[in-house]
Amino acid sequence: MAEMKVNPYDVEGEVDYNRLISEFGLKKIDEKLLKRIEKIAGEVHPYLRREIFFAHRDLEKILDAYEKGEKFFLYTGDGPSGPIHLGHYSIWNFVKWLQDKFNVELWFQFTDDEKFLYKNLTYEEVQEWMKENMKDIIAMGFNPKTTHFLIDTKHADLIYPEAIKVAKKITFSTIKAAFGFTDSNNIGSIFYTAMQTVPAFLPNVLNKKDEYCLIPMGVDQDPHFRISRDVVKKLGHKKPSIIHSKFMPPLTGTKGKSSSSNSEKAILMTDDAKTVKKKINKHAFSGGKETVEEHREKGGDVEIDVACQWLKYFEHDDKKLAEIYNKYSKGELLSGEVKAILIEKINEILSEHQEKRKDAEKQFDKFIYKK
Ligand code: TRP
Repeated sequence: MAEMKVNPYDVEGEVDYNRLISEFGLKKIDEKLLKRIEKIAGEVHPYLRREIFFAHRDLEKILDAYEKGEKFFLYTGDGPSGPIHLGHYSIWNFVKWLQDKFNVELWFQFTDDEKFLYKNLTYEEVQEWMKENMKDIIAMGFNPKTTHFLIDTKHADLIYPEAIKVAKKITFSTIKAAFGFTDSNNIGSIFYTAMQTVPAFLPNVLNKKDEYCLIPMGVDQDPHFRISRDVVKKLGHKKPSIIHSKFMPPLTGTKGKSSSSNSEKAILMTDDAKTVKKKINKHAFSGGKETVEEHREKGGDVEIDVACQWLKYFEHDDKKLAEIYNKYSKGELLSGEVKAILIEKINEILSEHQEKRKDAEKQFDKFIYKK
């Protein structure tokens, strides 16, 4: 089995999230914190209860500030190297929940520079993916008044002066260690982490403010900020807080993460109902038994059954989810039946999304940040 590897450029093997918490130096989101969030937000999102968002850095500081009536802003991002899939969608849906509940600004970085530097794509191809991704993000219903798109190459005049300040405080050896780079990595990729750091304080520079920043992200992105949180502080800004998510498992099994580089293993926001059905029926790893008789007798394993695991993302009703898990474990529900439930849920989401996506391009202007 592949050794566990988790960094922004490589996720491999069975991910042990408890080990990540200790290796990265994160804090687990515990009952006490959940209670606090519930008290403040009026509810806890199922992704918090279900430990999909499972860890954090300094989340208490954000809650303290909010309770004192101080503002914070959200910062997250997209690397436009391919189509948006349900893994992205789920994370950003949670971001939208945070934005709506706390009524805060959201800064969305598009790292076209990063994907050009790291992937085997031309500049033009990255620009095309960026447009496609923007349509999906807009279709998710973010508020254009409080959501600002920052594009690394287009907003270079704003980002670059701050990025060099960050870069001057980070050595090549730190980068090598954090990302597993060698002397053969291109020089742009070595600098890139500085670009990803900037939006954690740029809104304060632009608006002459000193607000807290909360960054929701997949835990693979943590190495960037593990390096740069202290740097941000040294530059005279507040250290950003972070909330980390687990990876949505690929359809083919619970290892690694859903990725659009293998579109068979992920469901894309643009997939039609037939494709969704085909992908899930053909590829979703089953936790069921060899034969129907054996399954009825011994029951299925919800932990390895991908349809069951994916329902954690899409069946927000705890009671309904528990009932499905219970019946599947007892063999009352067959794998094919759980898949059918999942297919219906996903197709409902996608048909609504695709409707909204149709004229999303008209709204680009409202979202792309203007000084
Ligand atoms: N590097 C991220 C990616 O490849 C995109 C990104 C930029 C991001 N800034 C971020 C993700 C902040 C989370 C939080 O997808």
